[in-house]
Amino acid sequence: MTHSLRIPDLTIPTRPQPGTGWSAGVGPGDAGDPAISDVDVIRVNGAARLAGTVHVVGAKNSALKLMAAALLAPGRSVITNVPRITDIAIMGEVLRRLGCDVRFDVDDPVDPMVAVGGAPRSRSVTIDVPEQPGVEADYDLVRRLRASICVLGPLLARRGYVRVAHPGGDAIGSRGLDMHISGLTRMGADISGEHGFVIASAPQGLHGAEITLEFPSVGATENLVMAAVLADGTTVIDNAAREPEIVDICTMLIRMGALIEGEGTSTITVVGVPRLQPVRHATVGDRIVAGTWAFGAAMTRGDVTVTGLDPSYLEIALDKVVAAGGLVETRANAFRVRMEERPRAVDVVTLPYPGFATDLLPMAIGLAALSDGASLITENIFDGRFMFANEMMRLGADIKTDGHHAVVRGRERLSGAPVRATDIRAGAGLIIAGLCADGVTEVSHVHHVDRGYPDFVADLRALGIEVERATAPEEPELTI
Ligand code: EPU
Repeated sequence: MTHSLRIPDLTIPTRPQPGTGWSAGVGPGDAGDPAISDVDVIRVNGAARLAGTVHVVGAKNSALKLMAAALLAPGRSVITNVPRITDIAIMGEVLRRLGCDVRFDVDDPVDPMVAVGGAPRSRSVTIDVPEQPGVEADYDLVRRLRASICVLGPLLARRGYVRVAHPGGDAIGSRGLDMHISGLTRMGADISGEHGFVIASAPQGLHGAEITLEFPSVGATENLVMAAVLADGTTVIDNAAREPEIVDICTMLIRMGALIEGEGTSTITVVGVPRLQPVRHATVGDRIVAGTWAFGAAMTRGDVTVTGLDPSYLEIALDKVVAAGGLVETRANAFRVRMEERPRAVDVVTLPYPGFATDLLPMAIGLAALSDGASLITENIFDGRFMFANEMMRLGADIKTDGHHAVVRGRERLSGAPVRATDIRAGAGLIIAGLCADGVTEVSHVHHVDRGYPDFVADLRALGIEVERATAPEEPELTI
């Protein structure tokens, strides 16, 4: 099956033409149909070791929100170091349908991985925002990109009315919006749900409010900050999320003229201003992509240097790698992970930042599956995150889940098999687990990986891995 979305200006990861079989070199930037396929597979051989240097570009989960934040100021904003991934292309389309002119260009500076192979991993995005942007994000795009919900806050602040399709849940959990809604309501918005849309209006404008989040939700913190920057008066968000991506968006907003204090702490204070200016801003490095390579090095007993990220954003994750027996060296904007022996079992608990990131849970399970001993892995953020454990079990991992806990008993080697990527991070985790398995592992539905990792295949090759990407034959429909 091929989805119909076509994305101008940005070539997304592509697939080889049907019938060409396994082919080398297919990835972002190659010529071909930019349609998203859900039958792409990545195939790796086991007994492989990640070794070399890899550069990470800007964080998906920052760039998506930076693009939405551009809506807050009429005029031309430019965001650089934006990852060249499907989700960003979809966000570009969301903004276009809101009346913005969106252009993806060669990034400045060009990411250094181009010299090693593959297409550029980053882009610069120029967004021309009209005086009166549109007020509706429809289900067609929101179902493809849950993060489209982040246009709610900025559009409500600019236009006083907005309709955004309710994104629903996804493969990692139920994913509510109650904290977004109750926070905006406290700021004077009237919010209802109708025909699958969240409809928010504030005809008199938004006003400052004291908001205590039940949980430090990343998305709710971002929506509320973006609404508060143009509200009348002071908003205090308590129990706010503290992720580096929150600091990044606040940094951009401050440079646009917003008055914000406390970003990166649990209490963010925003004093509303009447108008913001467009800006040029570089996206913070992707700590989840960097963490994926850190765990990949540990799992494959490899030696990987990662550049493009302040390693302090990964402090707890790198501590876990050290506890497992890894050697970690950090520098200003880089780190190196080596593993010279079989990893030792370590327990991991996911928590909001600065805790261990839920998005690295598949990598933590992969490491545990190969470690000497039993690890207790606890997931506290998403109720469905363990769904992918069944796929890891197909690779021979010994995993028992009970609610939000998983006990993983490590094995010397996994066993290659066909498996399916259920979400972005699970897909990356399964591909890396395949490097530690006997024989061949074929991970299908890798369009999920394309949503979060720019040219994963080229990065794997740069780290010495033989890897193929192709389109698997579609299954015939069965009828009776
Ligand atoms: N939640 C509610 N009500 C709300 C908001 C959140 O119940 O109003 C719940 C969610 O259902 C979830 C938990 O709170 O169980 C955490 O949600 P949060 O709002 O913090 O996450 P998010 O903003 O939806 C972002 C990232 C995720 C990342 C999480 C946690 C983006 C686009 N997504 O999601 O990234 O896992 O924060 O760090 O920023 C990924 O990149 O693969 C990914 C899933």
